[in-house]
Amino acid sequence: MKFFIDTANLDQIKEAQQLGVLDGVTTNPSLMAKEGITGKENILQHYKDICSIVDGDVSAEVISTDYEGMIKEGEALAALNPQIVVKVPMIADGVKACKYFSDKGIRTNVTLVFSVGQALLAAKAGATYVSPFLGRLDDISTDGLHLISEIRLVYDNYAYETQILAASIRHTMHVVDCAKIGADVMTGPLSSIEGLLRHPLTDSGLAKFLEDYAKGN
Ligand code: E4P
Repeated sequence: MKFFIDTANLDQIKEAQQLGVLDGVTTNPSLMAKEGITGKENILQHYKDICSIVDGDVSAEVISTDYEGMIKEGEALAALNPQIVVKVPMIADGVKACKYFSDKGIRTNVTLVFSVGQALLAAKAGATYVSPFLGRLDDISTDGLHLISEIRLVYDNYAYETQILAASIRHTMHVVDCAKIGADVMTGPLSSIEGLLRHPLTDSGLAKFLEDYAKGN
């Protein structure tokens, strides 16, 4: 399972990278705005900065909602760095743009996916990644994990190569549950990754080992 961090915060990206388990970064316009990164040039520079911190894939989202605009923007984003994956929204022009990019060998992440049908379309268009937003479904009393498992089933039925990128992860149990279901990738906040580390028996066991070692020295 690949681990992506879902943030535009450079300190958190560095921290996750230093842990040695980071495979990439996802961003979106809201995450950029949260870090105070505004304006086209600043945003492009920020993508370059993120690429210089991580070794893996960095999703960069287009703002255009029309086909021509997405192509122009996506090509410019992809030219920034080979690590860039162009993120397009799940709308008709986004599907068309996804097909265009995949035919050209530009990697894509189809975002804002909330149904199996949408995930099927993304795979048909040759998406590298599909991003079902499980937390946002949970927020409205709908089972986000169930969606991930249904997409897994459909993709396995036809051996689609599109990777399921479980997005909108809110906490550590989402990560564990997505791993059980077979999501290829998860993207979440640093806290969701760090939560995997913690167990009270690890802490008390280590304290006891150190205490006993100290008795003989
Ligand atoms: C995915 O790529 C999105 O950036 C993200 O996971 C959305 O998460 P949210 O629902 O916490 O905003």
